Amino acid sequence: MVISMPPMAVEFEGIHKIYPDGNIALRGASFSIEVGEIYGILGENGAGKTTLMRILYGEIKPTSGTIKIFDHVAKFSGPWDAIKTGIGMVYQHFSLIGGFTVAENLILSALPLGISAQNVLERAKESMEETGLKVPLEERINSLPVGVRQRVEIVKALVRNAKILILDEPTSVLTPIEVEDLFEVLKKLRESGLTILFITHKLKEVKAITDKVTVLRKGQVMGTRRTKEVSELELARMMVEREVLFSLERSPTRPGNPLLEVKDLWVRSDSGLPAVKGVNLSIRAGEILGIAGVQGNGQKEFVEAISGIRKPEKGTIKLKGEDITDLDNSKVYRRGLAYIPDMRSMGLVMDIDLVSNLLLTRLEEFSPDGVIRWRKAVEETKSVMKLFNVVAESVRTQVRRLSGGNQQKFMLGREIARKPDVIIASEPTHGLDVGATEYVRNKLVELRDSGKAVLLISTDLDEIMQLSDRIAVMYEGELIAQGPTREFNLEKIGLLMGGVKVEP
Ligand SMILES: Nc1ncnc2c1ncn2[C@@H]1O[C@H](COP(=O)(O)OP(=O)(O)OP(=O)(O)O)[C@@H](O)[C@H]1O
Ligand SMILES: [Mg+2]
Repeated sequence: MVISMPPMAVEFEGIHKIYPDGNIALRGASFSIEVGEIYGILGENGAGKTTLMRILYGEIKPTSGTIKIFDHVAKFSGPWDAIKTGIGMVYQHFSLIGGFTVAENLILSALPLGISAQNVLERAKESMEETGLKVPLEERINSLPVGVRQRVEIVKALVRNAKILILDEPTSVLTPIEVEDLFEVLKKLRESGLTILFITHKLKEVKAITDKVTVLRKGQVMGTRRTKEVSELELARMMVEREVLFSLERSPTRPGNPLLEVKDLWVRSDSGLPAVKGVNLSIRAGEILGIAGVQGNGQKEFVEAISGIRKPEKGTIKLKGEDITDLDNSKVYRRGLAYIPDMRSMGLVMDIDLVSNLLLTRLEEFSPDGVIRWRKAVEETKSVMKLFNVVAESVRTQVRRLSGGNQQKFMLGREIARKPDVIIASEPTHGLDVGATEYVRNKLVELRDSGKAVLLISTDLDEIMQLSDRIAVMYEGELIAQGPTREFNLEKIGLLMGGVKVEP
């Protein structure tokens, strides 16, 4: 009898990784990925997902263990060896040159492989036709939305002849519609025989797109399942030790005075076009207002105007009854507003340590007279870390060294601990795992219950529905619907986000 085994694309065998500072990221991870699978790797923040992928990509070396690629033991001394073996990586933060066109970026990236410019463009066009991936070859990267840049990264890998494609949390930068497009592309790539490693925290995505999934927890493999045969609940249990609560305890609102009032606000985008067109809104003490919308419909300009980062063109903004329309960011902050941007790089300086990052927005508190009270600042940093479960070696650790989720938790914690009266949270749970997400959401509800006002901007509709007392939908710079949460459901918000006005 002949038993035919499916061919393996990647085999991890007993991978351990201890970072130079003693951090143990992987503790003997072993599992195998068949050729032509979309393979999910699921795990909480700090589970070791990115570390394992960086090892596969030849960027860092494992402390022990071996990796086989297409049956051969891989000995990489750097990413180029991995690329030559057919591995492509799409990071969360892209590695494209902004001032260059898409074509120039592709040509440049294939240069070390000795692929001619003409060949690159031919291959790019072929793979675009095959997969439905569309990228504008002649446009500059700077002018492209994030979703398109991600497609460029995928085309880049295909041009370099990737057989195994790694996507590290690819949907965290995408809008729901872009996510669907990406999934279509991935399915086509699978048809063409590509093997795809799909890293995520999101249970729904695992169910939607993967064939098989391995769950990592604290550097160990907790199990591998066929996606069809596993429920979201079981995956969640494998990922975190405790029972996961999918719903939040919320008391009914008792809204007080309006804390934030916006009247007929007009704001322009960086390119000078009207981005916010006459928005009216008011949030009371003890209320969470959720703004849903596809990214790029003016949400960013809107919250930047409120937080004093961007000058509005017209209209008024009042904080606790006082006009703050023309105040700059630091003054607005001092009066009790906090803004958590959706990009960690906007809210944190990666190259400095945690205490210094705390001081960035809270210097007033710890240096009222120009002399920094380091001891107090260190204590506060420790308390934020403890309260928000931020895993880092010490308060002196560079923020860059934290996993993405831990960075996010720290940024949130820093602002929430200031006890602002109004908090603007933009995608506050992006990149967080189930446990941390639940924690952050509870914190936002706590703020509301203590009489603060929360303005939540999120592309995650479950989050909007779960947290908001009132919902507004932003479309092309206008709030095209606004009302209590009970008047909305996912379908209705989805339609509104797509610009379809529905009757209440
Ligand atoms: N360069 C580094 N030096 C030291 N420790 C590191 C380094 N990179 C990651 N770690 C640690 O290794 C562990 C695993 O981190 P890793 O980034 O692989 O997790 P992850 O599963 O990708 O998490 P996330 O979902 O938050 O991105 C964490 O404890 C992290 O703090
Ligand atoms: Mg990661």
